[in-house]
Amino acid sequence: MRISPTLTVLMGAALVLGACGKKTEAPSAADQQTASAPEAAAPAGPTPEQVKTILASLPAPFNAGDIANGKAKFAQCAACHTITKGGPNMTGPNLYGVFGRKVGTAADFSYSDAVKAQGFTWDAEHINTWISGPMIMIPGTKMSFMGLKDPKDRADVIAYLKVSTTPAP
Ligand code: HEC
Repeated sequence: MRISPTLTVLMGAALVLGACGKKTEAPSAADQQTASAPEAAAPAGPTPEQVKTILASLPAPFNAGDIANGKAKFAQCAACHTITKGGPNMTGPNLYGVFGRKVGTAADFSYSDAVKAQGFTWDAEHINTWISGPMIMIPGTKMSFMGLKDPKDRADVIAYLKVSTTPAP
């Protein structure tokens, strides 16, 4: 996929939408296609300062992740996952609040037995291993995703995911 500079700016604006944990119309993953509102129309949500604070709470190298690239790469994940508060489960569970959440515990999602048998809590490191090859980390998972092989892309996706799924501090 080729990302034009204009689109990158729009995606930055959409990030603010995606990171918004307020009760106002939570944008769904589908908004990735429809979020064309100009930056002037940016809704209330985490300020750039708050986004920085959330990002800084990640360990290195994730705290230096490129959020715009992370959002672009997350398009692959968005085929199966919503990330907004109260967003629906799709093929995969909603990922809002996934950092600090025990594996396999999103409400109303039917996980594989392999995932249900795990006991860890999601953090940047676990997600990094997971998205490098879910079937390698947890054989028997039903997340059929071949994995992001580039460590930088993974770090960027994790940075984007963190700022998009964490309530504003
Ligand atoms: C083809 C659909 C699909 C794609 C693409 C996909 N996932 Fe998943 N994901 C799933 C499914 C299904 C599960 C549940 C796995 C299970 O129960 O075995 C899951 C589980 C997860 C979990 C664990 C959630 C929990 O509540 O324990 C995380 C985190 C996750 N995916 C992140 C990602 C990220 C990040 C990407 C992109 C790099 C991605 N996924 C791409 C389908 C997908």
